[in-house]
Amino acid sequence: MARYHNIVILTGAGLSAESGLSTFRDKGGIWAKYDYRDVATPEGFRANPALVHDFYNQRRRDHADVHPNAAHIALARLEREHRGSVDIITQNIDALHEAAGSQNLIHMHGELLKALCTHCGERNAWTGDMNLDTRCPNCGRSGGMRPDVVWFGEMPYEMERIYMLLAAADLFISIGTSGNVYPAAGFVAEARSAGAHTLELNLEPSEGATLFHEARYGAATKIVPAVVDELLAARN
Ligand code: APR
Ligand code: ZN
Repeated sequence: MARYHNIVILTGAGLSAESGLSTFRDKGGIWAKYDYRDVATPEGFRANPALVHDFYNQRRRDHADVHPNAAHIALARLEREHRGSVDIITQNIDALHEAAGSQNLIHMHGELLKALCTHCGERNAWTGDMNLDTRCPNCGRSGGMRPDVVWFGEMPYEMERIYMLLAAADLFISIGTSGNVYPAAGFVAEARSAGAHTLELNLEPSEGATLFHEARYGAATKIVPAVVDELLAARN
């Protein structure tokens, strides 16, 4: 493994799979049980807010008993010990990167454990259930609270900062994502055109597999710690 300075890492649901959180497109995944149009679009929320609140209430409850796995922990170690920069762009709305100790983190699809008030725009940490009667802690009004999660058709967060990071990267690693959803699926091409070496770590080849210079396939808790060890060994 060569020496790199600015490492940018994109993570997806496959990273949290071994922590017990379902992925979206694997067999039995979330989109096999729910139609994303009903629970992950603004239109779906308008049409049936109670269904959407139930969907995220259940995911918050599931989140209470899960812990970061060896892959999350290895990425936090890389950030601590690497001599250059390590930035994680996650598509995941869980809080497992934070729980493992990662700090340079962008939640481009928002966060499950955050609430957004559509009346006053205030964001608050939120671990409990939410429904139409829930009052905003800031403006006190009800009927306007929603998960602070980016739905299909909405603009992901911090895109400007993301493209700056990709332009400065000399190593781009994609972990546990199927490469189905843009703009995240386009990040490898951005990094490549900036001259970065690109590496895919996944259970199986993703939709964008051919865009990567290098790939390793296997369970994240096995292949991610191994790559982190190699990157840290290369700095000596
Ligand atoms: N280790 C490594 N990779 C794994 C593991 C594992 N243990 N388990 C599954 N994977 C891989 C699968 O092979 C798949 O390629 O993780 C990927 C998960 O793909 P998706 O379920 O499509 O999840 P993701 O790519 O994160 O979805 C992107 O789509 O629905 C939206 O907003 C949602 O952020 C999500 C986005
Ligand atoms: Zn409010």
